[in-house]
Amino acid sequence: MKSVAVVGLGYVGLTTAVGLAQLGHKVLGFDTDASKVSLLSDGKSPIYEEGMELALGTLIDSKNLNFTNHIEQVADSKPEFIFVCVATPQDKSGAANLTVLNSVTSQLSAIAPTDSILVVKSTVPVGTGRILAELMQRKDVFMASNPEFLREGTAMRDVAEPDRIVVGANSPGVAGRVLELYEGIDCPKIETSVESSELIKYAANAYLAMRLSFVNDIAELSEKTHANVDQVLQGMGMDKRIGTSFLKPGPGWGGSCFPKDTCALVSIANTVGANLPLVETAIASNRAASDRAVQAIVELAGGDLSNKLVAVWGVAFKAHTDDVRDSPALKIIEALLKHGAVVQAYDPIASVPEQTGLSKSSSALQAATGADVLAILTEWPEFSGVSPEETTKLMKNSAVFDARRILPESWRNHASEFRVLGGSSK
Ligand code: UGA
Repeated sequence: MKSVAVVGLGYVGLTTAVGLAQLGHKVLGFDTDASKVSLLSDGKSPIYEEGMELALGTLIDSKNLNFTNHIEQVADSKPEFIFVCVATPQDKSGAANLTVLNSVTSQLSAIAPTDSILVVKSTVPVGTGRILAELMQRKDVFMASNPEFLREGTAMRDVAEPDRIVVGANSPGVAGRVLELYEGIDCPKIETSVESSELIKYAANAYLAMRLSFVNDIAELSEKTHANVDQVLQGMGMDKRIGTSFLKPGPGWGGSCFPKDTCALVSIANTVGANLPLVETAIASNRAASDRAVQAIVELAGGDLSNKLVAVWGVAFKAHTDDVRDSPALKIIEALLKHGAVVQAYDPIASVPEQTGLSKSSSALQAATGADVLAILTEWPEFSGVSPEETTKLMKNSAVFDARRILPESWRNHASEFRVLGGSSK
């Protein structure tokens, strides 16, 4: 059992704290947000993540996991490892904003015990680890980079059963010490330099985002050429070098990572005089994907959205999360409102933001009531079980756009028009 502190209790920090405590370590989670800490100390999760509250309850009872908003308590716990999991949001230029990270590092430099390791899990530009080491001015404290590859919605599983664990360090023996924390996890583990580890995270996210942009472009091409996109992607994915996962078309990729990390990677490349034209094109293709979804809704409304009522099912950036950061659904809703539409939105978990012209419905059927067009923008499984007959009867004009390809074909028999992103699956 090692003594570990986790600084910053957002998605990554919280799941890291829970994951390490589940591995048998004594973990103290720190966040400056007192209300978050008090919620967590009561075993309640500030984020929606399946299995999180159950795990919190067990670990808090076992006393392996505690939370605090007092940095002195972190110092008193004499952690051998301090995981830094603070946000690195995008600034105006597209680069990652490291203000919080830098200030946290200065604070930690005053309390980190001798021989402890500062493990950076926040996604940071290449070279940040080295800069933080200088900022620390502590020769007796080491730096390591240990990027997180969890996906929201499946975070608990991703932390317990990762595809791989990467630890970067530039001092001998440090990466090995961090990897010992994960002894209980059976997966490939690699030791790299800090710089490689930092770049692995960005390269992986940018590659996945690029893959999805390609898939979305192929979906559009399939629609225009009357090919069946499901068959095209199935046939493509059967090539082992391509694979079948992460191949689902949609109205664009969003969330708190891909949009920010692709822009940050382009910015890193620009800084060092390198070019990443493929990533830049993937970003542009992603904008086009949500524009196409808006265009489909405009067409279903007869070419003019002014004073039309659009029902939206799903505002989260993907299913199984309450996160709406950089959600394609919200981008699309924004555009619909600009076109003069009124929007009624429903999401099983995520909050619908307060905005003029946008109202929150308490069920899928309520959202559809009186609507001219219904758009499915997040792939929540409950939507595929809603009765097409009941829904379309409640609508004024029953035009339906399925941007996630989740509604059964039977909708075609009930909707006045039924359009599926990427074209029909028949
Ligand atoms: C992503 C990465 O998948 C994680 O590996 C990484 O750790 C994380 O970012 C991060 O940097 O913290 P996440 O943002 O939670 O995870 O969500 P994804 O499941 O990757 O989905 C991102 C977007 O792609 C969503 O809008 C989703 O709807 C879309 N998507 C995903 C598709 O349109 N099709 C797919 O087949 C998969």
